[in-house]
Amino acid sequence: MTQDEPRRAVSSAPGKIYLSGEHAVVHGELAIPCAIERRAMVTVDPRDDGRVRVSASDLSLSNFTVEYEQLGETLEPPRVDAPSGLVKDAMRYVNSAVAQARDALNNETAGFDITVESEIPLGAGLGSSAAVVVAGIDAATRAYGVELAKDELADRAYTAESDVQNGNASRADTFCSTMGGAASVNAFDCEQLQMPSEVPSFVIGYDGDSGDTGALVSGVQDRMKHGSVKSTIRTIGDVSGEVRGWFRAAEVEDGQPSDELLDELGHSMDVNHGLLSAIGVSARSLDEMVWAAREAGARGAKMTGAGGGGCIVALPEGDVATIERALEVTPACEQVFQVDVALTGVRVIE
Ligand code: MEV
Repeated sequence: MTQDEPRRAVSSAPGKIYLSGEHAVVHGELAIPCAIERRAMVTVDPRDDGRVRVSASDLSLSNFTVEYEQLGETLEPPRVDAPSGLVKDAMRYVNSAVAQARDALNNETAGFDITVESEIPLGAGLGSSAAVVVAGIDAATRAYGVELAKDELADRAYTAESDVQNGNASRADTFCSTMGGAASVNAFDCEQLQMPSEVPSFVIGYDGDSGDTGALVSGVQDRMKHGSVKSTIRTIGDVSGEVRGWFRAAEVEDGQPSDELLDELGHSMDVNHGLLSAIGVSARSLDEMVWAAREAGARGAKMTGAGGGGCIVALPEGDVATIERALEVTPACEQVFQVDVALTGVRVIE
């Protein structure tokens, strides 16, 4: 750790998809998240009056802005043109990141001017909050001359997310966003997986909606009183085990996964989607997009993240455009885009 003069710092961090294991990971099962090249960029300028001011734009694909000032615990009402639930959530994550940065700096009155620019739709299952929290803590601490080790950054980002989600958060989103690439995550252990040199890209379908992660996680918790839901959660963990095995098999194939191996990954994604539907976290729009992608020839497709609305991820075979077109004409689908795996996690921009 070094202490320099306070100065502007800018960091970016990637969003993520789940290849397998969302929700089950909250109950101690294995998950395989994978970082994607859709980033949140956070610029932090130190302020000497102890205040925090946040302005954010592009927090959803349809763009909106959030501005508020914080002095101690008092928030001024935000000036916004976005659904208030989403804005409230965004502010809670930023506040939680500020608390972690102040704690790391050992300076409860450190002031920040924070600008968030994000390419990741909010609450849509692509890890927008984790990316903002990771990049935010990194930039806010560096602005005061403190460089956190990646392990500590991932840990603090997890604590920030978990505080907002009343303890119902796994380390998957924040670890993956900090480290980049794919990871194998269970309750306590997070490990980066060796990426094949020929990394497949994915197609995302977005219904323009968002789910409430906290409510969806509690819903699953309630349904765990049914033995069938409990055993489905365990089976999701087994599927994640297969996906982790997939990365090892790809390594054996010199990092160039064969067609058969890619089909295996697609199959695991299909099974995982069915299991997520079974525990009640999919939505009609997500199911429609999953089916559209499959019928257009995807090797596999699944919802990603907490569900209830948001995004699906499809693993294409051959012509990506066919799947993109099929999603574009699916009534439930509002946006379609292709994403590459982000091999780098948090990145220092300035
Ligand atoms: C949300 O992106 C994924 C969940 O598994 C919650 C979590 O892991 O914190 C639903």
